[in-house]
Amino acid sequence: MPSVAGHKRPQDRINLKDIKPEFNTILKEQFQREPEKDKTQEVLQIKSGVSLQGKIQASGAKNAVTKLLVASLLSDKKCVFHNVPNIGDVEITVSLCQELGMQVQWDRKAKILEARTKHLKTSYIPQRFSGANRIPILMIGALLGRTDEDIIVPTVGGCRIGKRPVDFHIDALEKLGAKIEYREMKKEGAYFAQAHDGLNGNLIHLPYPSVGATENTILAAVRARGITIIKNAAIEPEIVDLILFLQKLGAIITFDVDRTITIQGTRKFYEVEHYVTPDRIEVASYGMAAISTKGRVFVEGASHLNMITFLNKLREIGGGFDIRNDGIEFYYNGPLQGGTHLETDVHPGFLTDWQQPFVVLLTQAAGSSVIHETVYENRFGYTEALQELGADIERFKQCLGNKPCRFAGKNFYHSIIVKGPTPLHGGNIEIPDLRAGFAYVLAALIAEGTSEIRGLPFLDRGYEDIDGKLQSLGANITRKGQTKGKEKKTASTPK
Ligand code: EPU
Repeated sequence: MPSVAGHKRPQDRINLKDIKPEFNTILKEQFQREPEKDKTQEVLQIKSGVSLQGKIQASGAKNAVTKLLVASLLSDKKCVFHNVPNIGDVEITVSLCQELGMQVQWDRKAKILEARTKHLKTSYIPQRFSGANRIPILMIGALLGRTDEDIIVPTVGGCRIGKRPVDFHIDALEKLGAKIEYREMKKEGAYFAQAHDGLNGNLIHLPYPSVGATENTILAAVRARGITIIKNAAIEPEIVDLILFLQKLGAIITFDVDRTITIQGTRKFYEVEHYVTPDRIEVASYGMAAISTKGRVFVEGASHLNMITFLNKLREIGGGFDIRNDGIEFYYNGPLQGGTHLETDVHPGFLTDWQQPFVVLLTQAAGSSVIHETVYENRFGYTEALQELGADIERFKQCLGNKPCRFAGKNFYHSIIVKGPTPLHGGNIEIPDLRAGFAYVLAALIAEGTSEIRGLPFLDRGYEDIDGKLQSLGANITRKGQTKGKEKKTASTPK
């Protein structure tokens, strides 16, 4: 196995049982936090009253491309990605991969990113990536097979929509033979992982079809000896995209309809050219923006296959859409009818990330609608701000639905009833997480008057050129950089 420059040699490797002194040194010397750029002061000002009209291009999926980049660390071969969105989470993932030795050429205009990691520079991920997003934890799976050296990964972040533990990831990786420990000092925490003798395939039964845990296990299994079988795996379209990429890379990998993914370990890899699957969350978001503003928007490049559950719900409440060969057109088709019952679920169920903007849509639909969130225990916090804008929403701790739910009887507000239609009025809103962010944008587009939205780094992490896309559809939207008091139209602002 390749050696990692600057790492300890096998004879004096970190002993996981007695890691504390080593950890202290790493925290002091290597895990120094760098000051973060303060982008939090920017404000999005939205004036309502416009029916969105026109055409936009679907961006590549955030939740696919970030994992594909990590997967490309498995080999030393060149990987070329097309349809790469220019968003914050790709920025973070690229700099994370560069830290480990990946060479990256990213033509943002052409949306093409070329990545190659001939040698790993290190397998220590600096603490400044802690809390940035969910990607660092996947580095354990990707790196375990690439190096026999110690791997250190800081705690993961992402949107605060529940506790979001990583116990399934750790259990699965340990079943493949990894040793993993979590250590904490002065509120800084990190996972220490090692597989000095390599990994061995195994049968992994996930307690829940977690997207991240499935991805981490697949990544580790690609370079493990023998065969890994993942039962109760997540089968989200972004995971299928990862499987397609890995097959091109050299993995022998199958997935069955019963949530079983089988991976035969390999060390023979190939160069890859891959087109990133379109972002089904972005597609649905603009579709809902078109319908709620009584407009008509064609989302070029949208994939019908990945939108089936969403489109069924949309049709049920009276939203219009036409499927074309090259995308999906969404349009207002008369007053929306509420009275629907929606339960979020793992794929092929209704995606939890569609839930927030859909709730805004339901505030404009006639009747009472019931929503039961079964994926995250704490994903309705954003509805408080919608109530302030005039929405009629009530939260419940009970399961308002029959789907199996891990939060039954657990004291979490994970169901709501939305009554509509209610006129919304503009206001000042602070974004708590990425998908709630788009819900607020949607609310502002239909609310009476002008709204100001803060917390834009959340939005920029996941929506490519959101101001530019909305402006091109006619929206009256301006980004103001509050720190300098200078207005700027971000449509033309390079990121
Ligand atoms: N869970 C555990 N233990 C684990 C892993 C997950 O209890 O070890 C629980 C979580 O707490 C959660 C549920 O299982 O209640 C589902 O979590 P999952 O692992 O499936 O989610 P994730 O991988 O952390 C990804 C997306 C999310 C998306 C979910 C569900 C990325 C970077 N994030 O998260 O996307 O909501 O899958 O589809 O891929 C977003 O894009 O805004 C976003 C939140």
